[in-house]
Amino acid sequence: MPARSGPIVILTGAGISKESGLDTFRDAGGVWSQVRLEDVATPEGFARDPVRVQAFYNDRRRGLLGGAVLPNAAHEALARLERDWDDDVLLVTQNIDDLHERAGSRNLLHMHGELLKARCGHCDTVHDWRADLGAGDPCPACGAGGGMRPHVVWFGEIPLYMDRIVDALDRCALFMSIGTSGTVYPAAGFVAEVRERGRAHTVELNMEPGHGASLFAEIILGPATARVPAYVERLLAEGIPG
Ligand code: APR
Repeated sequence: MPARSGPIVILTGAGISKESGLDTFRDAGGVWSQVRLEDVATPEGFARDPVRVQAFYNDRRRGLLGGAVLPNAAHEALARLERDWDDDVLLVTQNIDDLHERAGSRNLLHMHGELLKARCGHCDTVHDWRADLGAGDPCPACGAGGGMRPHVVWFGEIPLYMDRIVDALDRCALFMSIGTSGTVYPAAGFVAEVRERGRAHTVELNMEPGHGASLFAEIILGPATARVPAYVERLLAEGIPG
């Protein structure tokens, strides 16, 4: 039984999937240096040129399903923590890849949506979608054409599952932030929400300090595949610090 136990909330960002071969967004050479986010990650961009937006996500979906992109030791360590910890572990990811699922995480919320799902703009139903997506594809539920889009939360849209996330942040004894620059809200504000309640330990595991680094009680720098498994080992052996 760890010295200090309690519910854990983990937030992950693109950095946890970097060593699996997926680009981050804001590092040198990252996604937003390859394409303008205004063109492919906003409702306006989709309205302006749906074919271009669908092609952007079709490329990323094919890359994810191609067989070369696999969960890494950090994804696997978080799945182990969920299995072996003696209280709730909620994993909130900003990522739209399925590497946490493939590593075995179950209690998982994709607050920015999922690359392997598509949503109908007419009836709002969400469908598993592993093939290329065309703007003219009919919705499997309502049959309407011309409304299918990636089930991804774009800039200016409302992130998913926020009620469940805020409730978990209220109750947690440990908040871990892994592989995110802390640039995009509301995820970037989670650590401040946890600190306001004054109960939980907070730790950031990243390659470099994120924008909210000064708000974390503990900062651990280095590659996720090395730092995350070591931190999970420590948690399971010694409990939550502080
Ligand atoms: N191990 C750990 N951290 C890493 C690694 C690594 N191997 N490689 C990079 N990082 C860190 C970087 O230092 C950076 O702080 O991961 C972070 C990635 O930051 P971003 O590229 O900004 O990605 P993220 O924080 O997930 O972006 C949030 O922005 O564009 C939107 O919707 C998109 O979900 C995304 C959101």
